[in-house]
Amino acid sequence: MPIPDPIGWTGDGAVRILDQTLLPGEERYVTLDTVDAVAEAIRTLRVRGAPLIGIAAAMGVTLALRGGSPSLDTVCGAAAALGATRPTAVNLRGALARMARRAAAAAAAGENLALALRHEADAIREEDRAMCARIGAAGAELIGGDALVLTHCNAGALATGGIGTALAPIYALHATGHRVAVVADETRPLLQGSRLTAWELARSGVPVTVIADGMAASRLRQGDVTCVIVGADRIAANGDVANKIGTYGVALAARAHGVPFYVAAPTSTIDPLTPDGARIPIEQRGPEEVTGWRGHAAAPAGVGAWNPAFDVTPAELVTAIITDRGVFAPGDVGGSI
Ligand code: MRU
Repeated sequence: MPIPDPIGWTGDGAVRILDQTLLPGEERYVTLDTVDAVAEAIRTLRVRGAPLIGIAAAMGVTLALRGGSPSLDTVCGAAAALGATRPTAVNLRGALARMARRAAAAAAAGENLALALRHEADAIREEDRAMCARIGAAGAELIGGDALVLTHCNAGALATGGIGTALAPIYALHATGHRVAVVADETRPLLQGSRLTAWELARSGVPVTVIADGMAASRLRQGDVTCVIVGADRIAANGDVANKIGTYGVALAARAHGVPFYVAAPTSTIDPLTPDGARIPIEQRGPEEVTGWRGHAAAPAGVGAWNPAFDVTPAELVTAIITDRGVFAPGDVGGSI
C-alpha cells in the first residue's frame, strides 16, 4: 500500500495535511487555510520532521496572500509567525528565508507575488523529494545488501517531501529485492517510532519490530543489527548532530558495541552558521507530554518533568553522514555545501 502524501494543496490553494498526531489509529486529512492554522499544526506536531516543517512553512506563507492585497510586509509577518513555532530544525528557517528572498525579488520585478511564492513552495517540496531519492541511493550503496537497521524517531516519508532520509536507504534496498528489516525505537514521549515509523514501514511491506527506547542498548549488544540510521534536525558545521531526544544514547550504545552509526539528512539540514552542537537551540516542550499520554496519567499528579525534544550527538560518535551529495565523514560535512 503506498504511503499517502503527508502534505499537499487543496483545489483552492489551501494546505492539506495528514494529521500525524492521530496515526496509527486514524488517517485524517485536515485543511489549513490560514497562516495561524499552519503554525498551530507545526507547533503541535500534526506536521513534523525537519524537512516537512520547512515545506509546510513555505506553503503556509502563501496563505497570507489569499484574499488580501499582496504585500511584502504580509509575507514577512507570516514568515516571522511560522519561524517562531519550533527552534531546532534549520530547514524551517532555511525555507522561510528562501520564501522571503523570492518575495523580495518578485516584488522588485513587478511579478505576481502569490504565483511566485506558490512556485517557490512547490520547488522546495520537489527539491526535497529529489534529495530523499539521492539519499536513498547513496545509503543503499553504502549498506550494500541485506540488512537489519535500527532507527530512532521517524525520518521517513511522513517527515519529508519524498521517501524520507533515514528510511530512504531502507526503501531503496527493499525496492531492489534486498532483505531489509528495521528495529524501530518507540521514541518516547510522543512515540514517533512506534506510531509513525512502524506504520509507514508496515504499509510498505518492510518488516519492522518495535522496541521501547530502553531496549536499544540490549538489542545492539545482541550482534544482529547491521547499522543504526537516524535523521537530523540540524547538523552543525563540525558534524555534531541534533536529532530526536534519545538519539545520543543510541549513538553511545552503537559505539560501545561496534555498530556503525549513520545520520541521513539532506544538505538543507546542514547549518554552516552553527559552528558546533552546543550552539544548536534545543526545543523544550511541556512536561505533560512526559507525565501523561492522551489524558492518561503516566506519573503521579504534581510531579515535574524535563522534556527537551532533541539532543546533540557529538560528531565523534557518528560513523558517516549520508546526504543527497554523497557520504561524508562528519568533520567534512560543513564543507559539503
Ligand atoms: O519532533 P519531531 O517529530 O519533528 O522530530 C523529528 C526528528 O527528530 C527527525 O528525526 C528529524 O526531523 C529528521 S526527519 C527527516
